Amino acid sequence: MNKTLPIIPWIGGKRRLAKHILPLFPKHECYVEPFCGAAALYFIKEAAHVEVLIDINGELVNLYRVVRHHLEEFTRQFKWALTSREIYKWTQITPAETLTDIQRAARFYYLQKLAFGGRVNNPTFGTATTSPPRFNLLRLEEDLSQAHLRLSRTYIEHLPWQDCIHKYDREHTLFYCDPPYWGTEGYGMDFGLDQYAQMAEMARTIKGSMIISVNDIPEMRKAFKGLVMKTVQISYTVGGQNSRGKRNELVIRNW
Ligand SMILES: C[S@@+](CC[C@H](N)C(=O)[O-])C[C@H]1O[C@@H](n2cnc3c(N)ncnc32)[C@H](O)[C@@H]1O
Repeated sequence: MNKTLPIIPWIGGKRRLAKHILPLFPKHECYVEPFCGAAALYFIKEAAHVEVLIDINGELVNLYRVVRHHLEEFTRQFKWALTSREIYKWTQITPAETLTDIQRAARFYYLQKLAFGGRVNNPTFGTATTSPPRFNLLRLEEDLSQAHLRLSRTYIEHLPWQDCIHKYDREHTLFYCDPPYWGTEGYGMDFGLDQYAQMAEMARTIKGSMIISVNDIPEMRKAFKGLVMKTVQISYTVGGQNSRGKRNELVIRNW
């Protein structure tokens, strides 16, 4: 396994699922994450010949593009930057329209790096008594350089997941779909039951391989009925070390 970590914390990130999902991956030439978020599995897995990251969140996609194309200018934005609740609030209320793409990416990175529990929708400044701030100026370039190399040979798109599947579906493609958990509002947009049903239908009919992770609840078992399912248990933490729990995840595949 590769040691590259996601560049930002992201609610619903799948680092802990890697050891359960990666061994299931079939041989593939093209690897696509239509709901990439912080793309934990993409960064951990061996690079495929062609790789594609897609998300509906435009700020996130802009960040990946900027780290890919303008790493030096991006890191320069943080010269003398402070980890401060006050600056966090000011950064948060700066209208995105007044910023260049590089400044927008820096703003998003700063807010997300310091967000409590990796929250995406309405993030708040997070602190912990067990670890220093995640935002470390001294390690910024080093932290991002691996990701920069990986992203440099990856297609990065801002698309709804359905368009992405139509666009990249080939026999040699592997899609890893990690949609929002049904019934949670973590990403600031609706994701209704109909979308899971649509995903199940696509899984049954596409040419490529598709593997999907969702929360293990009756609605998901119903939506993906007929496809191969496996339950895995993962532990999670919320807000640093403050709260721990275990939950079941359903891993579904079309082969
Ligand atoms: C569970 S998270 C993915 C987490 C990711 N696997 C990781 O390791 O960080 C779900 C992602 O789906 C994205 N998303 C929500 N609706 C979408 C849509 N219609 N099309 C594409 N992406 C969408 C969200 O922005 C979010 O980043």
